[in-house]
Amino acid sequence: MIEQDFVAQPYEKDVREGKVTYKSPSNIALVKYWGKKENQIPANPSISFTLDACATTTSLSYRKREKLSDDFSFNLFFEGEEKEDFKPKINTFLKRIEKYVPFIKEFHFTIETSNSFPHSSGIASSASGMSALALCLMDIERQMSPEITDDFFNKKASFLARLGSGSACRSILGDIVQWGSHHETKGSSDLYGIKYPYQVHEVFKNYHDTILLVDKGQKQVSSTVGHDLMHNHPYAENRFAQAHENLTKLTTVFADGDLSEFIKIVESEALTLHAMMMTSLPYFVLMKPNTLEIINKIWAFRASSNANVCFTLDAGANVHVLYPENEHAVVYQFIKDELVAYCENGQYICDRIGFGARKL
Ligand code: PMV
Repeated sequence: MIEQDFVAQPYEKDVREGKVTYKSPSNIALVKYWGKKENQIPANPSISFTLDACATTTSLSYRKREKLSDDFSFNLFFEGEEKEDFKPKINTFLKRIEKYVPFIKEFHFTIETSNSFPHSSGIASSASGMSALALCLMDIERQMSPEITDDFFNKKASFLARLGSGSACRSILGDIVQWGSHHETKGSSDLYGIKYPYQVHEVFKNYHDTILLVDKGQKQVSSTVGHDLMHNHPYAENRFAQAHENLTKLTTVFADGDLSEFIKIVESEALTLHAMMMTSLPYFVLMKPNTLEIINKIWAFRASSNANVCFTLDAGANVHVLYPENEHAVVYQFIKDELVAYCENGQYICDRIGFGARKL
């Protein structure tokens, strides 16, 4: 599909008011998206596990406006409180998507949103938040155009979510989602995420992600700035090529369940992401001393126990500890005994691979 396919056709039905609620999860990338072109087009393809526990629930109440005007009309409540400071981000999102969902200026919206994880956890809520809002808007569009198929609905929700926050387009479906075109992945697109279309070994079923909250503070460098610093980055071209190669390698790993190969790819991707940050100009470091303590502990434990535990990182200091269901008991014990001490206030979140967003 091309961008033009997402421009709305004239709507058949008149919708005046209502309320819709979606719960949408976060996701953790295995092959990372870092660097983009105009209009949120990724510089390389990425792939992620959809999460389950970390999610945003968004209700969208909508009412046709009496008088049309040239601005968007909405109130925004986060965890029950009106949040003026969140509004500019939503306004920018609405502006970007207006071409594709032109009805949004005709309504007044009340957006009520809440996260399953603590706001100050350092966990980005943009993926779950933007995908939940995109799904609510698509639900309204489907009421006006009932012939929309589930496939188109999911693709367009992902397409819209991408325009809010790139990685959000990987939060509509589960359990493994690829975004960005890759010559070996049929149906892959820079415009939206697709469910990974090939065979996945059963060792990846119910894969665990225990998120260690190392630093709950606000990030010093936003991902928008980080993506931008990939322009003219000395290693950018090699990095983008490496992401394509790692995706090819992962296809084999997903099919045959080779966890030692999985670990190599996933940890290398995490460290490469941070290496890009450390080698951009200006350079920056998002890892904290405890991030490295945890990484070293994981390596030592893996060497002594042969457990298939590994880490990945997003654009922050927190560590995602990944391990298969059949090793849960031993790895979880290790986490409690040796890693939780490095978490801020001992806080961590037990999550696992999930199946995507749903309507409530
Ligand atoms: O969606 P953004 O623009 O916040 O970028 C997210 C980038 C990473 O989380 C670091 C990697 C990824 O692929 O999710």
